[in-house]
Amino acid sequence: MIGSGHTAVYEHYLTIKAVHQASAGLSLALFFLRGIWMLGWPGLLRARWVRIVPHVIDTALLTSAVLLAWMAQQYPFVHGWITAKVVALLIYIGLGTIALKRGPTRTVRLAAWLAAIAVFLYIGAVAFSKQVIPF
Ligand code: HEM
Repeated sequence: MIGSGHTAVYEHYLTIKAVHQASAGLSLALFFLRGIWMLGWPGLLRARWVRIVPHVIDTALLTSAVLLAWMAQQYPFVHGWITAKVVALLIYIGLGTIALKRGPTRTVRLAAWLAAIAVFLYIGAVAFSKQVIPF
């Protein structure tokens, strides 16, 4: 199916996958950086670009995710590994807001930050292995 040229869209599968991978990498890098700032230089988190750029990248990540799932016909609640990614992504978002915003103490924020990074790495491992339990 992929690359068979039925429609122009499928010719872009690899491009969209590259966008997906790049935005995943950038998303983790920015989340990592913002966690360091949260711990040492919280004022930097209020910079205008810091409040905008991660949302742009995460939107690209999610949009490419939906396109890939649709094009590859691998759907959540049908294919286990996609379900695992969606569920883990929701957990990552929840932990991420605790880490950077809602966590009441520094210790809670640090723990949420580390847990969020672990969940993100799990999502990446699921992506490459296409297994719910990738290890
Ligand atoms: C929950 C929403 C997501 C969905 C529905 C989704 C779906 C997909 C699909 C269908 C592929 C294509 C696999 C292939 O053609 O080999 C893929 C690849 C990939 N995804 Fe996602 N994804 C999501 C979120 C994420 C997130 C948050 C990350 C960040 C860790 C991520 C990282 C990757 C990577 C690294 C690949 C490439 C894997 C490879 O080269 O084999 N995805 N994703």
